Amino acid sequence: MSTDLYKQIFENNRKWVESKLSQDEAFFERLAKEQTPEFLYIGCSDSRVPANVIMGVEPGDVFVHRNVANLVVNTDINAQSVIQYAVEHLHVKHVVVCGHYGCGGIMAAMQPADLGLMNGWLREVRDVYRQHHEALDVLNDEARYRRLVELNVQEQCINIIKTACVQRHWLKHSYPTVHGWVYDLRNGLLKDLELNFAGIMKRIQEIYRLEA
Ligand code: CO
Repeated sequence: MSTDLYKQIFENNRKWVESKLSQDEAFFERLAKEQTPEFLYIGCSDSRVPANVIMGVEPGDVFVHRNVANLVVNTDINAQSVIQYAVEHLHVKHVVVCGHYGCGGIMAAMQPADLGLMNGWLREVRDVYRQHHEALDVLNDEARYRRLVELNVQEQCINIIKTACVQRHWLKHSYPTVHGWVYDLRNGLLKDLELNFAGIMKRIQEIYRLEA
């Protein structure tokens, strides 16, 4: 980042504050009191996929967690804490995993090479590949890459459904619903993978039921 851009950010911020206050003078006062987001968004850290911007929503509307390749790992205390807080305390209605075509993390995982520190993290994506390799191996390179982005989103949604707090909350309140989305860098459009949440939850509970 250039020094100019660094300085510009604080100028941008002041202008943004002015513009928000001119539309709604209680904007910050209200948000400072509490947050009641309806969405938990779990997405990739990629700078080109900013959650609030692509969803067209305001501060306070979406609780966000981002990491490389939008993964939900059972032993990741960071992601698991975010999910638990969002579900049990914020009572979000929807949990979204949003992947994106052109994801560098997915591309890296598709190369059979030593990635150093990233080996452990991206092994999650390689495990998704291994689970679906028969369907993936028949595709050409571009189609395989895009399909792995989608299947990775689907598997991370399943990882969310496996968690005790989501199962407990779902059985008691019939929400949150888990959704898989893919963002396309080339045209800016979001696609809903329209996963069968209730069907997946039923199958998951046959094996992973953590709540009576
Ligand atoms: Co990415």
